[in-house]
This record gives sequence, C-alpha cells and structure tokens, in this order.
Amino acid sequence: MVITVKPLHPLFAGEVSGVDLRQPVDAATLAEIVRASDRFAVLVFPEQALDDARQIAFSGLFGPLETTRRQLRPDQPLRLDAHMSDVSNLDEKSRLLPATDSRRMGNIGNQLWHTDSTFKRIPARYSLLSAHVIPTAGGNTEFADMRAAYDALPQAKRDELEGLVAIHSIYHSRATVGFTDFTEAERAALPPVPQTLVRLHPGSGRKSLYLASHASEIEGMPLPEGRMLLLDLMEHATQRQFVYTHRWRVGDLVMWDNRCTMHRARSYNMAETRDMRRTTVSDGVSSLDRRQMSIRVAQPAMV
Ligand code: OGA
Ligand code: MN
Repeated sequence: MVITVKPLHPLFAGEVSGVDLRQPVDAATLAEIVRASDRFAVLVFPEQALDDARQIAFSGLFGPLETTRRQLRPDQPLRLDAHMSDVSNLDEKSRLLPATDSRRMGNIGNQLWHTDSTFKRIPARYSLLSAHVIPTAGGNTEFADMRAAYDALPQAKRDELEGLVAIHSIYHSRATVGFTDFTEAERAALPPVPQTLVRLHPGSGRKSLYLASHASEIEGMPLPEGRMLLLDLMEHATQRQFVYTHRWRVGDLVMWDNRCTMHRARSYNMAETRDMRRTTVSDGVSSLDRRQMSIRVAQPAMV
C-alpha cells in the first residue's frame, strides 16, 4: 500500500496522502488510486499544485482525455490547453470576465447539480479539478453520492426506474439559468443524447442514479411526467446526508467519478478571481452500452 485515504464523510469522499502527483505515478500506485476511487468516488489530493502539463499527464493515465467544447467558439480564444476545461472567471488574457460575457454566464450553469459531459453520447468517467486561485469566500464545490441515493430508494421505486433512459442536453441545463447563447456550430456538435437512468458501476458492482441538470425528459414518457420524475430524483439524491462539501485550498486536486456522483459549484463574488482547471477522462463507452452489458450478465442467472 502506497497511498492512505482518510474518509471525509460517512458515505464517500476521501483525502489521499502518500503520493506526489508531480512525480511519475507507477502502475501499482495508479491501481490503488482507481481502487480508492471505486470505494470513495471523490478523492481529494491536497498540496499538489500541479501545473497544466502535469495535470494532463496524470489524468491521461486513466484514459483518453476530452477536449474543451469552447473550441467550438473560435471567436473566444482559449486561455488554456484544449485538454483543460477552463472553469475560471478569466478571459484568455487572465482578466476578469465582464458580467455579460457568455463564458461567465455559461459557467454559472456549473452551479446546478450535474454530472460532467452527460450531454455527450460518450460521457465522462473521471474529472480532475485543480485549484490555482480561490476567492476569499464561497466557491465551494458540493458532491452527492448517487450510489447511496440509489440504495436509499424503496425497492418499488428502484424497479420502476430499471431500464429507463433520460435525454441529456447542454442547452437544457443552460436554459434553466436563462442562458441560450449558443452558435449554430455548437448546436450541431452537441445534439441531445440518451443515457441510462440507473448505472451499474463496474469497479464497485454498485448501482447508481445517473441524473444531472442536463437531463430534460424520459424516453417514452409524457414530458411533464418524465421531467417531474427527474426533479423528484434530483431532490432525493441531493439531501444533505448524501452531500460532501469541498472547501478548496490552493494546490488541491480533486478527482471524482462521474458515473456515480453529481456535483455543483457554489456561488462566490465574481469580482474576485477563481482559477480552477479541469481535465476530464472519457468513459470510452455510452452508458447505454454499459447498461446492456449488465443486463446480459443478469439474464443467464434467471434461466
Ligand atoms: C467542473 C465543475 C465546479 C466548481 O469543473 O466540472 O462543475 O466548483 N466545477 O468549479
Ligand atoms: Mn462539472
């Protein structure tokens, strides 16, 4: 055992010590990190202060990285490498964004409970977020354990959800906060996609709810019925007993498993700089493929 994990919450989230991510990480340590993530779903690595190249290199050990959808806006030059999602309130020259800038308005959507990249046909597995500059107050990130939320549902509800598919779209979540400023290129690149509502997590064998602010409706259900089911489940899953609040320190790297958590940024005074940088590891497969695999495994036992 190289790493040590200190629980930060009764259900999930752990603080990892015993590894310096600025140094190359060997296969055995990487396997321990994956095992810890399968158990804790959110891992906090304090005092890492990774530069972007090191963060990209470490994240890339887990699988192929997503590139930022901001590339779809060539009129807004990137501040960071295309493998980093810029979740700061800064422009390409590191100046504070004005209140009406679409980057700043779009980022406010991160304050809705969500799971990263569920609006992509192949969504995200891990996200890794590094704190470079934090505001003097606010700006925490909250995480919800979607396995515990699933486990807490009555059996009848779990049966009802089995096999349901939700439709996810970035335009839906952003419209929730009144933001609709997407170009034709953005709309064409990111059409609404289906995702299973209940996932089987391969590393832990646990089931989890797969929700997110991007989810707008349930396939085959009247719109209000599906929307209300999603809203009810979001409310259930974000009860305080399922939530860990991360209070950032500069140099923290927090890694979370998007297959079994939701998260949201909390507000802060945007006249102060908050410079947070995310790398995102693709899951490599649609959640529907994953669901079919679990159903295929389950069926032979029933004959
Ligand atoms: C993200 C995100 C939350 C935050 O990077 O995916 O949602 O607190 N960030 O910045
Ligand atoms: Mn996010």
